Amino acid sequence: MKEINIGILGLGTVGIGIVQLLKKRQAKIKNIYGVHFNLKTIAVRDVNKKRNVELPANTKLCDDDSKVIDDPDIQIVIEVTGNVDGAYHAIQRAMQSGKSVITANKEMLASHINDLNTIAKNNQVNFFYEASVAGGIPILRVLSESILTDSFEQVNGIINGTSNYILSEMLTNQADYHQVLEAAQQLGYAEANPRNDVKGYDAAYKLSILSYLIFGQFLPVSKIRLQGIDQISIEDLKAAQNDGYKIKLIANLKRKHKQLTASVVPTAIKKDEQLANVDGVQNAIQVTSDALGRTTYTGAGAGSLPTANSVLSDLIASANTETNGYSMALQNDNNNDYQIIKNGG
Ligand code: NAP
Ligand code: HSE
Repeated sequence: MKEINIGILGLGTVGIGIVQLLKKRQAKIKNIYGVHFNLKTIAVRDVNKKRNVELPANTKLCDDDSKVIDDPDIQIVIEVTGNVDGAYHAIQRAMQSGKSVITANKEMLASHINDLNTIAKNNQVNFFYEASVAGGIPILRVLSESILTDSFEQVNGIINGTSNYILSEMLTNQADYHQVLEAAQQLGYAEANPRNDVKGYDAAYKLSILSYLIFGQFLPVSKIRLQGIDQISIEDLKAAQNDGYKIKLIANLKRKHKQLTASVVPTAIKKDEQLANVDGVQNAIQVTSDALGRTTYTGAGAGSLPTANSVLSDLIASANTETNGYSMALQNDNNNDYQIIKNGG
């Protein structure tokens, strides 16, 4: 049996979900893969904070990231802090010392994805970030595998759970915007800075990651046409409903004639269309590709356990030393010769 030491940076909504799910599935993982993940160290900001989780007896909690990053016995680091610069430097350092890394940090990836993939490749370590897009939906793994046999044209859908939850609750329960936003924070759906959710930035970070993965093209968030849901009133939602529509925050990424266009905007969708019926924290991603046509993936887009499930799937993939992250797919995509990005339309 293979024993792998892991360390986690962060023990909030996602970190706690990882600890709980790993405990629940450890025996199954051991039986099927012959691997035991030993959760050696978790670094947080405040070790005295009361947390709703029981750690394994041999797991150490500390407030010093270097006890995870610089521990030569730790082979895989999971980053779930939500920091941007701190997380980037921590991941860089971990990979340079030969550790594979898993992150859920879309904001950080939207600036550093190319650099970190290069560092992972140069250091022959795995780098996975399934949880960074659409929470529990295993979209990155599916797309990075089908990139070898298919060619993508467009990705669009609902990729921010918090704003979809807010729009759904406002319409269904006549709930006040600020109260629903607070509920989304309490349920662990919203970002530490919920402005990222309601102003559309979080969905834009995810589009940037998708663009890198499926089109081999780094898409800066500044090139994405962006409008959030924070100015939408109950009256707007009801008026759309009376006309047979539902308002959803739709993210769209398209490639045409080697040009990329990207946008995140509230959009009125006819009520009988699939995306109009994706409510609450659910996400839905519609992918249009050459071989498959249109495929839709739906599921929980945020929350502790759905997100932790994506992280654990990365953990299992990382235990396989021959994979080298998603870069296999990226290296094999010969179509990434479209360099021009115009502002989303
Ligand atoms: P969270 O509940 O705010 O937890 C963040 C954790 O990171 C806390 O435990 C905090 O410590 C710790 N932390 C902050 N700075 C740190 C540092 N420098 N070193 C060590 N630990 C540090 O956030 P979350 O909801 O779990 O989200 C974590 C990441 O996952 C974010 O990047 C987020 O975008 C992403 N994500 C979240 C979801 C979701 O549904 N929540 C879904 C997908 C992706 P203290 O507890 O001591 O303050
Ligand atoms: N805050 C994010 C959302 C978490 O609501 O979609 C999942 O990425």
